[in-house]
Amino acid sequence: MSLIEKIRAKAQADVKKIVLPEGDEPRTVKAAELIKKDALAEPILLGNPDAVAKVAAKQGADLSGIEVIDPCNSVKSGEYAAALYELRKAKGMTEESAKEIVKDPMYYGIMMVKLGDADGLVSGAVHTTGDMLRPALQIIKAKPGMSIVSSSFLMECPNKDLGEDGLLVYADCVVNPCPNAEETAQIAISAAETAKVLCGIEEPRVALLSFSTKGSAKHDLVTKMQEATRIAHELAPDLLLDGEMQFDAALVPEIGASKAPGSPVAGRANVLIFPDLQAGNIGYKITQRIGGADCFAVLQGLAKPCNDLSRGCSVEDIVNTVAMTAVQAQ
Ligand SMILES: CC(C)(COP(=O)(O)OP(=O)(O)OC[C@H]1O[C@@H](n2cnc3c(N)ncnc32)[C@H](O)[C@@H]1OP(=O)(O)O)[C@@H](O)C(=O)NCCC(=O)NCCS
Repeated sequence: MSLIEKIRAKAQADVKKIVLPEGDEPRTVKAAELIKKDALAEPILLGNPDAVAKVAAKQGADLSGIEVIDPCNSVKSGEYAAALYELRKAKGMTEESAKEIVKDPMYYGIMMVKLGDADGLVSGAVHTTGDMLRPALQIIKAKPGMSIVSSSFLMECPNKDLGEDGLLVYADCVVNPCPNAEETAQIAISAAETAKVLCGIEEPRVALLSFSTKGSAKHDLVTKMQEATRIAHELAPDLLLDGEMQFDAALVPEIGASKAPGSPVAGRANVLIFPDLQAGNIGYKITQRIGGADCFAVLQGLAKPCNDLSRGCSVEDIVNTVAMTAVQAQ
């Protein structure tokens, strides 16, 4: 079974309600039909019902049994606006602006998740990453005990000798441009959790990456990864985690043994933590384009799951992201 087949099977085992704010977007409408048909989740589409129905007719999508909610004309709008105002009044939100903002499907969907009317949210076929992330960060916020939301890429590599039978988790590749040592430590702990929940990796082995292995080079950038390793050990003493180390020392057993002898992680890492967003984003694309890996992106560390799509996403990408979100919500 491939990773995504396993994730789909998990999603079907405990069906969650997932809201899709871009409810009149053609790929999203088609995806909702397939999600419902395969019982991967209970999809909820947001948008004007006539507009959604028109798109469905054009797509040949059968939306029977799928709830469509119009944020501009909903019985819940007043409740959501009042809750949004309470949450954001200290940041300058007025009651009037809250009433207007919940008409925006993205904010309406986030409020559904916040107040428990949906278990998770998937968006981004039309909106940019920032448009989707900002309301999630402002309203859903990080999990208790976490100060930072980040992302992981689940990389399924053709070379099964790598990581966990070819599976590697890369973080952070989407959210935090320049995490400091404390934030990098939190990203490492979240990524280990993602490896367990979504990849079924029972023993995450986390490597904090650098251009140096165990002090082979001296630089402030190296010191940050050493400090991040120390903090992560303090925060999660039971986690198998080590750093700083180079990419090859993390993945190749002989190189790990020679550069970081005695490390519980070197040469057999299955979770890789990059020092910043440039390295992480470039790293996952190299693995995908040159290494031929399939990759699946998720946000981690949010109090409730919300996930972003690429604007170039396919119907299948939306279906898969909904399945991953449903599993995170379980
Ligand atoms: C995540 C991101 C959208 C935040 O946007 P921003 O406009 O800088 O947001 P702000 O700094 O004003 O923060 C907005 C809120 O989110 C919170 N926040 C920001 N980043 C956060 C994080 N990583 N974790 C938790 N909360 C975060 C802030 O504390 C703030 O909360 P508050 O309003 O309650 O005080 C921004 O960091 C970003 O654009 N990251 C890169 C995304 C990207 O383009 N990736 C590449 C795509 S492949």
